[in-house]
Amino acid sequence: MKKIAVIGSGTMGNGIAHVFAQTNYEVRLIDISQDQLDKALSTIARNLDRMVAKDKISETDRDATLNNITTHTELSAGAESDLVVEAATENEDIKLGIFKELDDICGEDTILASNTSSIPISKIAAVTNRPGKVIGMHFMNPVPVMRLVEVINGRETSAGTTKLVMELSRDLGKFPVEVNDFPGFVANRILMPMINEAIISLDEGVAGVAEIDDVMKIGMAHPMGPLHLADFIGLDVCLSIMEVLHEGLSNDKYAPSPLLLELVNAGNLGVKSGQGFYTYERGSKEIVVAARFQS
Ligand code: CAA
Repeated sequence: MKKIAVIGSGTMGNGIAHVFAQTNYEVRLIDISQDQLDKALSTIARNLDRMVAKDKISETDRDATLNNITTHTELSAGAESDLVVEAATENEDIKLGIFKELDDICGEDTILASNTSSIPISKIAAVTNRPGKVIGMHFMNPVPVMRLVEVINGRETSAGTTKLVMELSRDLGKFPVEVNDFPGFVANRILMPMINEAIISLDEGVAGVAEIDDVMKIGMAHPMGPLHLADFIGLDVCLSIMEVLHEGLSNDKYAPSPLLLELVNAGNLGVKSGQGFYTYERGSKEIVVAARFQS
């Protein structure tokens, strides 16, 4: 594999493009918005500069990585790719539309992967004529830092596709883990109920935001507390994943916390809106200003 297309240049898409380009793949980064693509390229450049400053890569590596990425606003730019990784917005209709079109325009050997955090891979595969070549590649945020890739087999994903994607993920320096196509897969099936429980605990007054996060950071050695992590992931994303678990597993233990719903309805989405369980100041790095709910 040499030519990779990444669809969607948001947080996940630009991170995915970054790691492929840094491993010397030719990356076509595709988004409907040129403005978003320009922003993605500056984010990648900033993250590479940080790595140069820390002597993790040379300036030559940084330049080569950036040279490996071209940006495009048409899906057809990905037609000649060996692998397409879709990281568009987490909306089922949008994703299904993209896969339908990709299936029409890509060569028959192209593998189509989705970075979906919760939409069933078999459902995505069903809109294509190549279900054996459709697979989940679920990267974690921030992609350049986090080593896990959940490799999700749909009902009809072929063993050959899985093998190629596992090898490719290792080539990126990642740690791929093969899982099956259940709601939330493994990562979100376990992570999101923990975050939801933290929000319920907050709502019930068990403790304040900082206290809940400190318990999990100091007591369980998590790098971020669950409420800070929820803000980092996006409260809208957390809510939509809880809804997928609730509906897909038909079990009320996955019901989203009313406080989570209330915050999302109020537009408090976490870091991206500047307000979630904490308040954030925008800058080169998001700075936590204050926890909002005290015990
Ligand atoms: N790109 C490249 N490098 C980055 C980066 C980015 N976007 N963000 C941070 N880094 C690097 C920094 O340069 C730094 O590198 P060194 O170790 O070489 O110094 C390192 O990551 C740590 O960064 P910071 O010192 O700035 O901050 P930190 O120590 O607080 O770590 C963190 C930040 C890596 C995000 C850490 O807090 C962490 O691991 N948090 C948990 C992240 C997590 O759980 N992600 C999974 C979310 S769930 C998901 O993604 C799936 C889903 O479907 C919802």
